[in-house]
Amino acid sequence: MSNQVIIFDTTLRDGEQALSASLTVKEKLQIAYALERLGVDVMEVGFPISSPGDFESVQTIARHIKDSRVCALSRALEADIDAAGEALKVADQFRIHTFISTSDIHVQSKLRKGFDDVLAMGVHAVKHARRYTDDVEFSCEDAGRTPIDNLCRMVEAVIKAGATTVNIPDTVGYTVPSEFGGIIQTLFNRVPNIDKAVISVHCHDDLGMSVANSIAAIQHGARQIECTINGIGERAGNCSLEEIAMILKTRSELLGVHTNIKHQEIYRTSQLVRNLCNMPVQPNKAIVGANAFSHSSGIHQDGVLKSKNTYEIITPESIGLQKNELNLTSRSGRHVIKHRMSEMGYSEQDYELDALYESFLALADRKGQVFDYDLEALVFFSQIHEEPEQFKLKYVSVQSGSNVMATASVRMEVGGEVINEAAVGNGPVDAVYQCINRVTGYDIRVDKYELKSKGEGKDALGQVDIVAEYKERMFHGMGLATDIVESSAQALVHVINSIWRAEQVAEKKEAIQKKIRMETV
Ligand code: KIV
Ligand code: ZN
Repeated sequence: MSNQVIIFDTTLRDGEQALSASLTVKEKLQIAYALERLGVDVMEVGFPISSPGDFESVQTIARHIKDSRVCALSRALEADIDAAGEALKVADQFRIHTFISTSDIHVQSKLRKGFDDVLAMGVHAVKHARRYTDDVEFSCEDAGRTPIDNLCRMVEAVIKAGATTVNIPDTVGYTVPSEFGGIIQTLFNRVPNIDKAVISVHCHDDLGMSVANSIAAIQHGARQIECTINGIGERAGNCSLEEIAMILKTRSELLGVHTNIKHQEIYRTSQLVRNLCNMPVQPNKAIVGANAFSHSSGIHQDGVLKSKNTYEIITPESIGLQKNELNLTSRSGRHVIKHRMSEMGYSEQDYELDALYESFLALADRKGQVFDYDLEALVFFSQIHEEPEQFKLKYVSVQSGSNVMATASVRMEVGGEVINEAAVGNGPVDAVYQCINRVTGYDIRVDKYELKSKGEGKDALGQVDIVAEYKERMFHGMGLATDIVESSAQALVHVINSIWRAEQVAEKKEAIQKKIRMETV
């Protein structure tokens, strides 16, 4: 048996489906590039039948990613598999992942079928997917609660039908490590053709055991782990990629397996996902939490000063965590940008410094602080044509105090035309939001508003993240400035630009579909 564990990342599918506001295609592509650089073997990037947006993002990622295999999800239905095959076919090599539930509770209450029907659907789905690719993964949803005889029958049947990877999910995070390891061991003992496929596991964290269960599965022969960055995913989330990767590296002498993960990319990938997904990482989270490498008690500090390995089993540097990161703002010079790019592993041949610096300044003016991933986006996305923003915030001014209504005035550019507006409100942010809603013609309901400080001392910036609902869809907006009313305004304008773009895409699609309907009449 191979001692390489395949890392199958599902941040952009299981992780993304759990976000309160979905990512844009560009944000997904940016995460996909980071995952490729991190060295994931397979990345599952969406569920193409679920929406035109998902189809488009799977297709875009499949077109750009070369070093990791791109995969898309489909139920065990021909239409789903066809959508996945269509979206993925632009890739050189790709995987189709098809699934059906196998536990009694799912088969009877959700699917309202008998197990034999489900088995037949699984087999048919695998055969259908093989028409598109010879890399087909099949998942037995809720395998953790599936009677073992049924699970063995299903695994044997789908391997016979052509599945090259069979995934055993603990969909509801119910099992404990010895039990889950036992399920994998039983499959190896009882399924006669098990050596024809890679056995994979996909564990959820409802009882906080996803990582432990995945490790137990490896100890019993599983050779693919499905996981996500920062453990994001349905409900309590999925098995966390950074924890798995660092366990397999740190305890390699015990576990005897390895991955292709480039560990030094872990920290920045985690930060990227945290920021783009607007999903905070708990400070005490293993590996990537803010406190993961800080020692508080006097006894520990004393020990670490004498010898680091008294209390540190991994170093911050091993996951690429740099100390003393510089804040990149419009006050940063060219040499800082060059230095940051070289710290991220880029040489001057990889980009054009003058052009990069110019676009950096433009972005810093708009955004306040520029992050590492923004710099990379400026380099990598410069070739990709980006639509200019429809709504631009030019100026914000507010007057407020304890005993007066807040008054705001706002100047914006809308499709090139400058518009001024003034309004009163219950506080400065409300007054500014009223102005922006009037100028843009949108009436946005803000569901979540969060303010945090970025950086320290006089250089600290206020970051505002909002989640807003519009026509039953959630949108995320972020703003960053020294003035928190301005960051709040930027966050709303960000949301409105995303809504406007989503409406443009929907209108274009509708026009194309109408044209097709007319032509076929
Ligand atoms: O949790 C689960 O069972 C899944 C499957 C689709 C693999 O996400
Ligand atoms: Zn899942």
